[in-house]
Amino acid sequence: MSGDTPTVDDCPVSNDMPMLGLGTWENADPATCQESVATALEMGYRHVDTAQAYGNEQAVGKGIAAADVDREDVFLATKVWIDNLAYDDVIETTETSLQRLGVDSVDLMYVHWPSRTYDPEATLGALDELYDQGKIHNVGVSNFEPHHVEEAMEVLDAPLFANQVEIHPFLPQAELREHAAEHDYELVAYSPLARGAVFDSDVLTDIADDHDASAAQVSLAWLRDKGVTTIPKATGRDHIADNWDSLNLELSDAEIERIDAIEHRDRKVDPDFGPDAWD
Ligand SMILES: NC(=O)c1ccc[n+]([C@@H]2O[C@H](COP(=O)([O-])OP(=O)(O)OC[C@H]3O[C@@H](n4cnc5c(N)ncnc54)[C@H](OP(=O)(O)O)[C@@H]3O)[C@@H](O)[C@H]2O)c1
Repeated sequence: MSGDTPTVDDCPVSNDMPMLGLGTWENADPATCQESVATALEMGYRHVDTAQAYGNEQAVGKGIAAADVDREDVFLATKVWIDNLAYDDVIETTETSLQRLGVDSVDLMYVHWPSRTYDPEATLGALDELYDQGKIHNVGVSNFEPHHVEEAMEVLDAPLFANQVEIHPFLPQAELREHAAEHDYELVAYSPLARGAVFDSDVLTDIADDHDASAAQVSLAWLRDKGVTTIPKATGRDHIADNWDSLNLELSDAEIERIDAIEHRDRKVDPDFGPDAWD
């Protein structure tokens, strides 16, 4: 793998969204989170993912403010939590998120899960209103299955920009990837390192060794090859840099096929309000 640190321009962009971003779930200590965000931005990241539920919007906002990068150059995404999905609550808690983040608008606001207080007409109607007001530049959903996405597309006036779901070599989401291509929305992979489990895979570590790379980088390069945006969470400079350097890694067709052939399945994020509860 080439040893040069990738520049901002080496990161592919899809519909104005940089395809490698920084995840921040469980980066809850304010000073640490602020530092992670500022470090990532100064390294070249231009996409940061947070959520009301992560309790770190203020720290993320401070990290953006502290970095020597203009706010308008950063693609900032947050998510409305499942208790806040009634019409008035979406409007009010979005205002609160903007205040905590210290910004006038976010680039992407997701519905975190189609659960608990989710009501397509009310929830998405409120997001349409915020979109019209310019407070959110794109409307996204998260943890939506194809039928939820299709319903959301029917209800929304604004375009449905993205669906953020768990995707990694042990949960490759072929059906959703096909659906996204067919219906023309972005897929954003959360837990793209399978929360660390990529390091336990012989296939990924073998391929990594052949490139003098890490299994994390191999997973990120595999997802990039599939046209999927990734938001690996990393706290310290070493992991933030390792993931950024994945932009230098090109896998061969044979290596992609080897990863595609992994049969092991592992869903890392499966709360009691998640997909099992919908069946
Ligand atoms: N929409 C949703 O419902 C949802 C659900 C889950 C996650 N997300 C989003 O997706 C982001 C990523 O997912 P995730 O946090 O679940 O898991 P992940 O990104 O797959 O894995 C994060 C774990 O891997 C470690 N790590 C990161 N880079 C590494 C590297 N290069 N080498 C070794 N270890 C590395 C991190 O450690 P350190 O922290 O110590 O660096 C952390 O323990 C979240 O932070 C969040 O923004 C969204």
